[in-house]
Amino acid sequence: MSFATTSLDTGMTKQPHSSTETAPGNMRRATTAPLDIETVVEELKELPQPVGMPLLDDPKYHTRDVSVFYNETKQAIFNVDLDIGRNEVIAMIGPSGCGKSTYLRCLNRMNDTISGCRVTGELLLDGEDVYARSQDPVLLRARVGMVFQKPNPFPKSIYDNVAYGPRLHGLANNRAELDEIVEDSLTKAGLFKEVKDRLNLPGTGLSGGQQQRLCIARAIAVSPEVILMDEPTSALDPIATGIIEELIDTLRQSFTICIVTHSMQQAARISQRTAYFHMGYLVEVNDTNTVFTNPEHLLTENYITGRFG
Ligand SMILES: Nc1ncnc2c1ncn2[C@@H]1O[C@H](COP(=O)(O)OP(=O)(O)OP(=O)(O)O)[C@@H](O)[C@H]1O
Ligand SMILES: [Mg+2]
Repeated sequence: MSFATTSLDTGMTKQPHSSTETAPGNMRRATTAPLDIETVVEELKELPQPVGMPLLDDPKYHTRDVSVFYNETKQAIFNVDLDIGRNEVIAMIGPSGCGKSTYLRCLNRMNDTISGCRVTGELLLDGEDVYARSQDPVLLRARVGMVFQKPNPFPKSIYDNVAYGPRLHGLANNRAELDEIVEDSLTKAGLFKEVKDRLNLPGTGLSGGQQQRLCIARAIAVSPEVILMDEPTSALDPIATGIIEELIDTLRQSFTICIVTHSMQQAARISQRTAYFHMGYLVEVNDTNTVFTNPEHLLTENYITGRFG
């Protein structure tokens, strides 16, 4: 059974481009009959590579055959091949539990901190093996910063939140240089004007949106090359979300940004490429406009049209 002759049991009756059309990577478009989960999984297992444009020339990240296991009993990511470009915002989307956060955490070895979690495959950052024995995860995480769903400022002053990383990594030779890094990071994060008169007050005293920008400033302060963001605006109101989205667009000039989001509108607004995950498989990757206007895979189409997920 294949997607050429079946569709998900979502009531969808999409006409294929042509009945024999085969998308790149051998995944075919769907037609009419119901399709059960086992069949979807069988199809996904046979997918040699995601459809669309998963690979790039001279990528920032080169990831191949990446799989992730929790406690050896649960495989959360299956053989993902994906390149991430320089100075691009790539959005990772898909239904809850499909493995977006798990894949994101592979990129800066945050999965190392989860007991029982094992990552296999090849992950290269600028050609350098992220999982090499010689790789220091602390230094790696300075190169690849992370911003989480819930703002998590340290219980320290606004200043010390931002100065923490530069102090740890010895990036400033004196107080004046540290002041400059703090101001510059807060400015880039769009927060400096709002907090410049209260840098010594606790970061936890800021509003949710301000705290999230503080966390972004903290990530930027160590001059990372990549910033991973896992649903960074899901706890914020539309105004704070708008500020962070504008910020992401500006940051793209200096950094590569990988953002997990449940908001399709957000993915469409801020990313250049979008990767669609389903049940631990990377199904489709393409430029964002194509994914949202002309997805190649039925699973992607069902998700972006709100038929499931
Ligand atoms: N620490 C863990 N131990 C065991 N299983 C886990 C752990 N973390 C995640 N999983 C499982 O791995 C799968 C992928 O989870 P993950 O959190 O990566 O999904 P997600 O796409 O980020 O979901 P959401 O959109 O809800 O955040 C899920 O089945 C989840 O239950
Ligand atoms: Mg998640």
